[in-house]
Amino acid sequence: MKILAVESSCDETAVAVVENGRTVLSDVIASQADMHATYGGVVPEIASRKHVEAISGLAEEALARAGITRADVDAVAVTYAPGLIGAVLVGVNFAKSAAYALQKPLVPVHHVRGHIAANYITHPDLEPPFVCLCVSGGNTMIVDVRDYTDMSILGATRDDAAGECFDKVARVLGIGYPGGAPMDKLAQGGDDKRYDLPRAHVHDAPLDMSFSGLKTAVLNLAHNASQKGEELDLPGLAASFGAAVSDTLVPRTMEAARQMGYGKVAVAGGVAANSRLRADLERACQKSGNKLFLPALSLCGDNAAMIGCQGYYEFLAGKRGGLDLNAYATRDISLG
Ligand code: KG4
Repeated sequence: MKILAVESSCDETAVAVVENGRTVLSDVIASQADMHATYGGVVPEIASRKHVEAISGLAEEALARAGITRADVDAVAVTYAPGLIGAVLVGVNFAKSAAYALQKPLVPVHHVRGHIAANYITHPDLEPPFVCLCVSGGNTMIVDVRDYTDMSILGATRDDAAGECFDKVARVLGIGYPGGAPMDKLAQGGDDKRYDLPRAHVHDAPLDMSFSGLKTAVLNLAHNASQKGEELDLPGLAASFGAAVSDTLVPRTMEAARQMGYGKVAVAGGVAANSRLRADLERACQKSGNKLFLPALSLCGDNAAMIGCQGYYEFLAGKRGGLDLNAYATRDISLG
């Protein structure tokens, strides 16, 4: 079964063709990151307009690269939540039109479920149940993946997402946008104990997280240094910050893994590319006897292959979208 998959929830327009859930026949992405870098963050209205410009051409390219024609498409899958509402709407409307024109089923896919599914592409042997740490620019949560389409949140951030925190800190330090990858690189040469940064705990919710205090601590540090005319040790700060994020995410993920007892831990989303996080999880999983599944670096960020993969399992579970399918800025992952 060949699924034409569409993703437009933030600043990447992406279309892919995925066969039987796990084989990626094509995966094309047009990133708008350079344009939003001018503003230090994603400008939603610009993102929507750029999706409109790019999406039809990308769909043609995805079909051509897969070596198939429109007639070979069996279903159309699309991210319908969560994301920037105007951006998601572009993908949803394109997918609705494609499904209608091709007279094929339309399958709505939750974006974070898609991120989790990136692991099925990287690891053909991975099957639920497992615990998945989902960390991206818009979401940070620990998910109990009981089955391909049956999941619930075990713990989540109460405020900022981890990726958003990386981006804001990088912007204030003048490291660029999006900030996660350059912060990661800068941290390689730094002392992770150089700055004493906070690790927050949420009272009575041991698996929940909070990153806003960490973000504010770094911003205050930067402002104080500039007021006093002091130089910051940027590699040391990037390393200390990366350690604080990892120290928040890893113990909670391992505690969730202990509680569920599946013996399998996966990671998903843009921040899953972070080298400190990957190394710390590797160590923690080894120590606790859990098998760790990390998505290929190319599949950590937003892409449509992961939507095609999850779309296949949603299709098998009977999920369909009508021509009245709407887009949602927020939606609980357990609702699909
Ligand atoms: O999954 P993604 O592409 O978009 C969302 O669905 O939100 O994630 C983007 C986020 C950005 O915040 C970016 O700074 C972060 O992932 N990111 C990283 C790294 N690479 C990307 N964060 C930390 N370390 C990285 N190496």
